[in-house]
Amino acid sequence: MASKTIAIACDHGGFDLKNTLINELKSKGLEVLDLGCDSADSVDYPDYAYKLAQAIKDGQAERGVVVCGSGIGISIAANRFPEIRCALVHDAIGAKLSRQHNNANVIAFGDRTTGVATAIDALNIFLDTEFEGGRHARRVEKLSNPPL
Ligand code: RB5
Repeated sequence: MASKTIAIACDHGGFDLKNTLINELKSKGLEVLDLGCDSADSVDYPDYAYKLAQAIKDGQAERGVVVCGSGIGISIAANRFPEIRCALVHDAIGAKLSRQHNNANVIAFGDRTTGVATAIDALNIFLDTEFEGGRHARRVEKLSNPPL
């Protein structure tokens, strides 16, 4: 990874897991750009997904992490930006393949669906795994150019 800054954002449903993942990132010596939310008070997940997507688009971070209750809403919202390839991950193999095959630059977790140990393991794999390129590069390129 070129940049050592990781952006992270959540809604209220992902607040606890976000804090756990921030501690994990800091323990690895990474800079964390925490884009909220800042409490367990109810908020709207698109607002935080868009903040994170904009930060990556602007080059403030190379990779990002988003968390909501299921991981579904916040990953859908992040993927509204063509610059974002956000993978909703539930296990180690998903984290690995999201990097090797999809060059995912954002990983999403569901606080209510994925245990803490699994999320930490998947996060580390996401950060440490390189994109394989080759035949996958053509497919990933097409993700940025949908035939709209
Ligand atoms: C919030 O209650 C919940 O809907 C949200 O965190 C997420 O699961 C949406 O996809």
